[in-house]
Amino acid sequence: MAVTSETGRWEALFASRTRSDVGEGITFVLSFLGKPDLISFAGGLPDPRTFPRERAASLLEEFAASGESAAFQYTPTQGLAGTLDAVAGRLETLQGCRPADDELLITSGGIEALELVGKTFLDRGDTVVVEGPTYLGAIMAARGFEADVVAVPMDDEGLQVDELERMLVGGLRPKFLYTIPDHQNPAGVSLSAERREVLVELARRYGFLVLEDVAYRELSFNDDPPASLWSLAPDTVVQSGTTSKSLFPGVRLGWAAAPGEICAKLVSAKQNTDQCSGGLGQRMLEEYIRRGWIEEQLPISRALYKRKCELLLAGLERTMPAGVSWTRAEGGFFSWLTIPGADATALAEIAAASGVGIVPGALFYADGRGRENVRLSFSMVDESLIDEGVERLGSLLA
Ligand SMILES: Cc1ncc(COP(=O)(O)O)c(C=O)c1O
Repeated sequence: MAVTSETGRWEALFASRTRSDVGEGITFVLSFLGKPDLISFAGGLPDPRTFPRERAASLLEEFAASGESAAFQYTPTQGLAGTLDAVAGRLETLQGCRPADDELLITSGGIEALELVGKTFLDRGDTVVVEGPTYLGAIMAARGFEADVVAVPMDDEGLQVDELERMLVGGLRPKFLYTIPDHQNPAGVSLSAERREVLVELARRYGFLVLEDVAYRELSFNDDPPASLWSLAPDTVVQSGTTSKSLFPGVRLGWAAAPGEICAKLVSAKQNTDQCSGGLGQRMLEEYIRRGWIEEQLPISRALYKRKCELLLAGLERTMPAGVSWTRAEGGFFSWLTIPGADATALAEIAAASGVGIVPGALFYADGRGRENVRLSFSMVDESLIDEGVERLGSLLA
């Protein structure tokens, strides 16, 4: 027998933090994905062609045959010692800075790090500074702890640190600032080297934490990105990383590198979220790093995303009417369009009806801005469909 439920029955019992409607944004984005024949520039998902299927299968077989239990057992909350060591060594190679044993934690994806930092730092009414626009998941995490989310504008060099300074001088006192310095989601721009220095200096001067999300750092198309904020100021920055874009999101794995005092709090916050990240994924990650497989895969993934990005940008150049502008990503998954006078939410609905998935810009702001913006993700759309998708969008705008 089917169980029927009456809408609104539990409303009076729901916690007040559930009343923010920002989660509906993600539902809106995900609702496009199942539609057949849709050319989707909507979800920021990795291309399944980058998934290391055979290697994953052979590792699983190896773990089973060798009789090891770590891959199948609960793990310590901070993470398996071997995985922590492999991740620390990789950070040292890639970012020139190695976290000490008490400064690194394995997380269940980048999104968990946001949750753990929120849980550790935020009381109701605290302020979190973000880039405007920013990753929807970060807005949701901050809102989940009933924080006020304040956006600082960006330009082609990322977060406008002079504007941030003006706000700090004016009395803004955030607990932390969340930033995606490399190939930002959704804007597709990176924070310049000069601004990185200024940002960590401001954090030290005004006594706030920087939460650096490096989700797309390893997906640069050309040069390596400038020094990470964490490597510039490991005393002031928590770095949250994920293997979702470089390996595959099915294992839900990431890391957080943080000052020891903060790392200990994050570990205890994790004890009552999921207690530990999955051992199977941790063992796989360790082997992918130690055998050099992750570094073998990355150039292939970067080349694929670069080709897609070039197709998208060339298509926009050909088809967009005068006045429309967009960012030119040099890595990551996204381009950010500005369409003067548009109602991007209405446009997204019309585009979906014409078989094109896009995400309206308002979802990436906590304050209703972004009406004239659209995020286009080139990561998952098939290369052969990019021209057609952009042309359909262009003719809607024309
Ligand atoms: C900037 C950013 N951070 C974090 C995440 C989430 O990563 P994970 O899959 O590791 O939770 C995403 C996913 O889209 C993202 O764009």
